[in-house]
Amino acid sequence: MLSKTDKNATLFIVVALGLFFIGGLLTTVLPPLLDKSWSKPFENNDPSKGPTGKLVQYTPLQQKGYEIYIREGCKYCHTQQTRTLLSDVTSKGAGSGWKGVDAPVSTPDEFVYDYRQTFGTKRTGPDLSRVGGKYNRQWHKAHFNNPRDLVPGSIMPPFPWIANNPDELDALVAYLQTRGRAKNWRPDNDYEQ
Ligand code: HEC
Repeated sequence: MLSKTDKNATLFIVVALGLFFIGGLLTTVLPPLLDKSWSKPFENNDPSKGPTGKLVQYTPLQQKGYEIYIREGCKYCHTQQTRTLLSDVTSKGAGSGWKGVDAPVSTPDEFVYDYRQTFGTKRTGPDLSRVGGKYNRQWHKAHFNNPRDLVPGSIMPPFPWIANNPDELDALVAYLQTRGRAKNWRPDNDYEQ
């Protein structure tokens, strides 16, 4: 029957497209319908199978803070990715580590619940992927109110509408305090609240 396609170009194209379509269905549409585990994030505890890490859902308050972080465009100045580079993990200079402890490298589990990515591309300010627990709420409040009060010469803009709105401040600080916390990477457990 297919020999007819040898002589008829239109028929050849129609049959070829039909077969291509069936192939597409079999390889891309059918597998996720049969195996639902594909779409669920899962925790990997076996380093030989890839990056390990703990999945932690946002609480409603942290989720609200995440949305404020996106709304205010923090990611235009801050990245959230500790890469494998020494200059990223170090606690000296502009690395993500702090108070003498180097930071762990970012892994996929940290981003599975983000529906808009916050990786960022530009480090006008420092990377924030490990800032959870580095400062307390009071510090963040003063810093959002006017960064230059705490860090002379800072070019971070003030965000008084957050600093003076307890609901938004609580949410944003709760979100910032989650950054890197699931990694529990401080040997002395010296996280600020
Ligand atoms: C115009 C660029 C810019 C924007 C926008 C910006 N920041 Fe910053 N940020 C900086 C700079 C520069 C620093 C370093 C100086 C300082 O600490 O103030 C900084 C520092 C910080 C720090 C302290 C980091 C550390 O490890 O010491 C935090 C936390 C922070 N910013 C959070 C935010 C949040 C949250 C937003 C959004 C509401 C934001 N920033 C928006 C530039 C920016």
